[in-house]
Amino acid sequence: MPKYALPGDKIESEDPVTVNRYGPLARLNHWVTATSLILLAISGLALFTPALFFLTNLFGGGQLTRILHPWFGVVLFVSFFIFFFQLWKANLPERADVIWLSRIKDVVGGNEERLPELGKYNAGQKFIFWSMAGLIILLITSGVIIWDQYFATYTAIETKRIAVLAHAICAVLIICVFILHVYAAIWTRGTLRAMTRGTVTGGWAWRHHRKWLRELAGNRKTGPAE
Ligand code: HEM
Repeated sequence: MPKYALPGDKIESEDPVTVNRYGPLARLNHWVTATSLILLAISGLALFTPALFFLTNLFGGGQLTRILHPWFGVVLFVSFFIFFFQLWKANLPERADVIWLSRIKDVVGGNEERLPELGKYNAGQKFIFWSMAGLIILLITSGVIIWDQYFATYTAIETKRIAVLAHAICAVLIICVFILHVYAAIWTRGTLRAMTRGTVTGGWAWRHHRKWLRELAGNRKTGPAE
């Protein structure tokens, strides 16, 4: 005789639960952003040091690289900020982020049960989000200042010198942030499909973003399983 189960209790076999995380337009937006940053990094590094000048071959030579690089920057800026305005609210810092950060050892050690429940993003993702936003603003601003083809006469040489330095520093920083972002996306199993298929598993959402899942489950109309 069963001890705990009452008549009628049974495990419903349903298809694995999946949760929509990004719609097709958001994913397209993300991949345009990602592609433009990769093209920017390659063309920028090619112009940065003679040791990497050979990379200009990928863009049809030095002159074309020089022409294309700032336009890739314009694409990144526009595309990133279209994405930014869809996501910024979910990236606002919360108290749970401080607790999560203070238990970073448990994050790395995979002890999820010791971590607070989180909304759509964790503190690491939020850090990457705001760093990218800040760095892209600095890069486009310094980039326009040194875009002599169109803006040569607008600023003094001294200003351009500072802009060149700021541009290079921000570029190195955003490449580091980019590496961190890609590493985290691969390291957290089940994350990449959020940006490829648009969905994550219910288990992934429960494990990493429980408050977000709870909110979605609360909004869901429940009914008998089919
Ligand atoms: C090959 C390169 C890249 C890969 C594999 C990748 C992968 C991903 C994945 C899987 C997510 C979903 C994470 C989640 O929802 O939990 C994501 C989100 C995101 N990605 Fe990327 N990404 C790449 C490049 C970039 C680049 C270059 C940028 C910006 C310049 C970028 C900006 C973002 C932003 C802003 C989010 C939303 C996260 C948030 O709002 O905190 N990604 N990416």
